[in-house]
Amino acid sequence: MYFGVNIDHIAVLREARRVNSPNLIDTLSLVERGGGDQITIHLREDRRHIVDFDVENIIQNSVLPVNLEMSISPEIVEITKRDKPNRATIVPENRNEVTTEGGLDLKRNLHRVEVAVTELHKRDIEVSLFIDPNIESINFAKKLGVEAIEFHTGKFANLFGMLYTNLRNSHHKIPELLKSRKELKSELEKELENLENSSKSVKELGIRVAVGHGLNYQNIKLIREIPEIEEVNIGQAIVARSVFVGLEKAVAEMRELL
Ligand code: PXP
Repeated sequence: MYFGVNIDHIAVLREARRVNSPNLIDTLSLVERGGGDQITIHLREDRRHIVDFDVENIIQNSVLPVNLEMSISPEIVEITKRDKPNRATIVPENRNEVTTEGGLDLKRNLHRVEVAVTELHKRDIEVSLFIDPNIESINFAKKLGVEAIEFHTGKFANLFGMLYTNLRNSHHKIPELLKSRKELKSELEKELENLENSSKSVKELGIRVAVGHGLNYQNIKLIREIPEIEEVNIGQAIVARSVFVGLEKAVAEMRELL
């Protein structure tokens, strides 16, 4: 399994004090030593963690390929074209969200996404689209000639968290998922089946299948059972674990599970 490590949350810590610590460049070799295959970063329009300087600096200094998550705002597309990451993953963005809450709405934004994909391809940048696992989104994505599709696994992760972890008893419980164990189990099974079928459909099109969002050391065990999934991009869980065991070990523990 190809393993992308999203280091945005290391930049969250740095931005909390607006100093150059932790230094993002120091994380690159630790991710590599832990067994990561790719560095993933998201230049958000509000620059809440990764900033323009990081994008250029990381692309220049990383031995591993860099996957830049980006919106289709003209400013962000220009930066991506200039800095040329190995891959651009187009994601939806809403300024008020805590994190990316769902996949791209391709029906609504098809033309704008198509223009961005063409521009990126002209610069030899591989393109991935972050979409929800459903047939409508896959059919739109198919028309765009992208190299990869990344499925948003937020629904799966939320169901898993409310069923099998202490999330239910925490400050961050998900009110709409305060359901019986039986209901959660059945919904989780359905969502896994949906992820599996969606992955099969994409693989049949000859497009690379990636997944990401909310994946962690527990729920990854179900994801790795789906053979069509070729890539994961994981951030929050790894950075959270690294607070206790260090980044290299946190990456290595996930590598082992994968
Ligand atoms: N993949 C994409 C496209 C993302 O936007 C994100 C962040 O939401 C991730 C992967 C990593 O998600 P997480 O930090 O929940 O592991």
